[in-house]
Amino acid sequence: MGVAIVTGASSGMGREFARALSARDDVDEVWIVARRAERLEALAGELATPTCVICADLSTDEGLAAVRSELEENKPLVSYLVNAAGLGKVGSYATISDADVASMVDVNCRAAVLLTQMTIPYMTRGSHILEVVSCASFLPLPHLNVYAASKAFMQSYTRGLRWELFGTGICATAVCPFWVKTEFVAVAQRTKGASDIRHYPLAQRPQTVVRRGLLANRLHLAVACCGVPSFLLRVAGKFIPWCVDIAGWEVLRRV
Ligand SMILES: NC(=O)c1ccc[n+]([C@@H]2O[C@H](COP(=O)([O-])OP(=O)(O)OC[C@H]3O[C@@H](n4cnc5c(N)ncnc54)[C@H](OP(=O)(O)O)[C@@H]3O)[C@@H](O)[C@H]2O)c1
Repeated sequence: MGVAIVTGASSGMGREFARALSARDDVDEVWIVARRAERLEALAGELATPTCVICADLSTDEGLAAVRSELEENKPLVSYLVNAAGLGKVGSYATISDADVASMVDVNCRAAVLLTQMTIPYMTRGSHILEVVSCASFLPLPHLNVYAASKAFMQSYTRGLRWELFGTGICATAVCPFWVKTEFVAVAQRTKGASDIRHYPLAQRPQTVVRRGLLANRLHLAVACCGVPSFLLRVAGKFIPWCVDIAGWEVLRRV
């Protein structure tokens, strides 16, 4: 039994992870983290498991300190950490604002790594870490460039962390889905370069990604593609020269 900590729980995959984990036998409390308090309160009201709402902007030191102080105060046994808070912005270096660039790096990378660092001491044999990364981590994607680079960082970090955790019984997985039906695209399009990517095909349900991500983690897999399109991108990123992959993306994003 232990606590499941889920960031980004006010929406999309984070909310589905919180729902799925609250129903598990090895979870007796769920901590949900995001900025939108009313969304978190609504989710807390829906979950049958005791829930702790942490309203925090994870791009700030104060937001990260809010999670750290809950850990230090309660000294929980953490059975799951799911870092699902994150965002992407569509556009080029010329159209994405510095503030948006900073929040992608701060939330997708800095917050995820610092939260992982601060939570591991509260974990034990059989604990789980799921970093919600993306298939964008498999290759560079112009006009989604900072986002893809932030996810490549997280994939690399998660793979290295697995080896550091060897022998501890704690398993870390990078969950790398293709497009998912969440609020992600609406947020990503709030830029001047929104039309740089015309369509978001083959989007999966968040519930499917959550189920497959948790299964992959239980199977001790380093990366969970969660679907065929992501798996094909993974293969392309590994075996086809990146200049060819990127040329293909440059065609696809205009279609
Ligand atoms: N949807 C896709 O197509 C897709 C595909 C691959 C990977 N991903 C990744 O999956 C993860 C989850 O995204 P999603 O698809 O579920 O999108 P979403 O529905 O937009 O959810 C994003 C979550 O992140 C939280 N968040 C954003 N900025 C935050 C901040 N500064 N502080 C605290 N929380 C913050 C949001 O909460 P508040 O706004 O309430 O703070 C929200 O709960 C992201 O890392 C994303 O990159 C998404």
